[in-house]
Amino acid sequence: MKITKICCIGAGYVGGPTMAVIAQKCPHIQVTVVDLNEQRIADWNDPNPENIPIYEPGLSEIVSEARGRNLFFSTDVDKAIDEAQMIFISVNTPTKTYGKGKGMAADLKYIELCARQIARVAKQNKIVVEKSTLPVRTAEAIKSILDNTGNGVQFQILSNPEFLAEGTAVADLLNPDRILIGGDTNQEGEEAINSLVDVYANWVSKDRILTTNVWSSELSKLTANAFLAQRISSINAMSELCEKTGADVNEVAKAIGMDSRIGPKFLKASVGFGGSCFQKDILNLVYIAKSYGLNEVADYWEQVIIMNDHQKRRFSNKIVQTLYNTVADKKIAFLGWAFKKDTNDTRESAAIYVADDLINEQAKISVYDPKVSKNKMLSDLDYLETRTGEENRSALNVFDNAYEACKDAHAIAILTEWDEFTMYDWKKIYDSMHKPAFIFDGRNILNAKQLESIGFVYNGIGS
Ligand code: NAD
Ligand code: UGA
Repeated sequence: MKITKICCIGAGYVGGPTMAVIAQKCPHIQVTVVDLNEQRIADWNDPNPENIPIYEPGLSEIVSEARGRNLFFSTDVDKAIDEAQMIFISVNTPTKTYGKGKGMAADLKYIELCARQIARVAKQNKIVVEKSTLPVRTAEAIKSILDNTGNGVQFQILSNPEFLAEGTAVADLLNPDRILIGGDTNQEGEEAINSLVDVYANWVSKDRILTTNVWSSELSKLTANAFLAQRISSINAMSELCEKTGADVNEVAKAIGMDSRIGPKFLKASVGFGGSCFQKDILNLVYIAKSYGLNEVADYWEQVIIMNDHQKRRFSNKIVQTLYNTVADKKIAFLGWAFKKDTNDTRESAAIYVADDLINEQAKISVYDPKVSKNKMLSDLDYLETRTGEENRSALNVFDNAYEACKDAHAIAILTEWDEFTMYDWKKIYDSMHKPAFIFDGRNILNAKQLESIGFVYNGIGS
């Protein structure tokens, strides 16, 4: 089938940027991104492209080029489903917070709602593409819903997981390492796969478009995230050993990364990984393994999460211990709140957990992040339900200037690796702080020697 109309359900961090790039690269395809969240759609339609709801370098330019030409954002989900030949499902699949599998399994209620809505609306054959990250064998459930509740039309289900990372979403989409498409191995399945291959082939070379069966594709996504997160937990585990032995984790990472079998990427020790997916996807993998009785497999992967929780807790403990075992009423300045640089996303950011620990110790936190709003930070803390909203508001102050956030602080903690932090006038910051002035560099981005020569007491990760 030659695709001329695409619908994407879910205008989030994946649906928005992915569809913007498809629209930019395929002017002959009409792409409509729909969402139930009216505010989100209004923001995507904001006349000023700088106000779109997701901050990603290069994204506003692409949106302004394609929007209104062949890229549309709408809340009319039925209409978009009805018109499209190919429907991407890109809704959220968070960890379940209730019932069986609570705290581990993926919550598929939004996926099921989409499947039922597609079944209800579709009057012609459709290709349904899983873009969300899903447990292996979800396509089976989607197919069953579509076939049993639909209007007798034919559906093909493809799995096309997304591998973009936030902060580099546009670059990752324009130049992906690979595109993975899983589908049925019969003739109809192959035709559906080819329709999607043809969409990507508008800008991705065919040797980078990999086709597999559906289950391999679904499981490859969980596996990729598990391996990536495992590398971070591995280097973070070594960072603790480095601190005890006089080794330096940056030197160790460089030394092992030069082994071409290991490779240099994703070996940055940190305050712990965050983001909406690593933890959720590993928990989901652990749950799936357990559900097949594979307890050793489950325990193996669960350790990645246990190590990450330990790394976050270790960071806040170190701050308390170094500040003479009390941070009560002391001002601790946080530079960064986002889970990584170049994004306004804060989901599962280590900053949230470190702040929560320090507020439990009655510290006063002052935060500066170039892209995260005060409301977002407070709602992240409120979500933990550790204390009342009022108490959070009195413990956390937000500044739109790093120098103000650090003024009169006893310590600074670097939580996100924003480039601008390396360019500050650190002498000016030092002069405005209580002495001794401590820095806890949770990202190892600052120059320790330079800071120590100013007078700071510098603490990095793993050295
Ligand atoms: P998100 O929360 O930013 O966006 C999901 C959107 O779907 C929301 O705006 C929500 O309102 C909408 N939605 C939910 N149910 C709906 C329905 N029935 N009809 C219409 N809209 C509906 O989530 P995200 O970060 O874009 O992630 C989406 C999926 O992609 C997840 O499965 C995630 O694991 C996966 N993924 C995310 C990333 C990432 O970097 N964020 C990368 C790769 C894969
Ligand atoms: C990650 C994967 O990299 C993507 O391929 C995947 O598509 C996505 O998850 C997903 O499925 O959601 P993302 O979470 O956006 O992307 O960002 P990463 O660059 O992977 O960073 C995740 C976390 O790990 C961040 O908190 C980052 O600071 C941390 N990190 C990363 C480290 O601590 N050390 C490193 O060496 C790399």
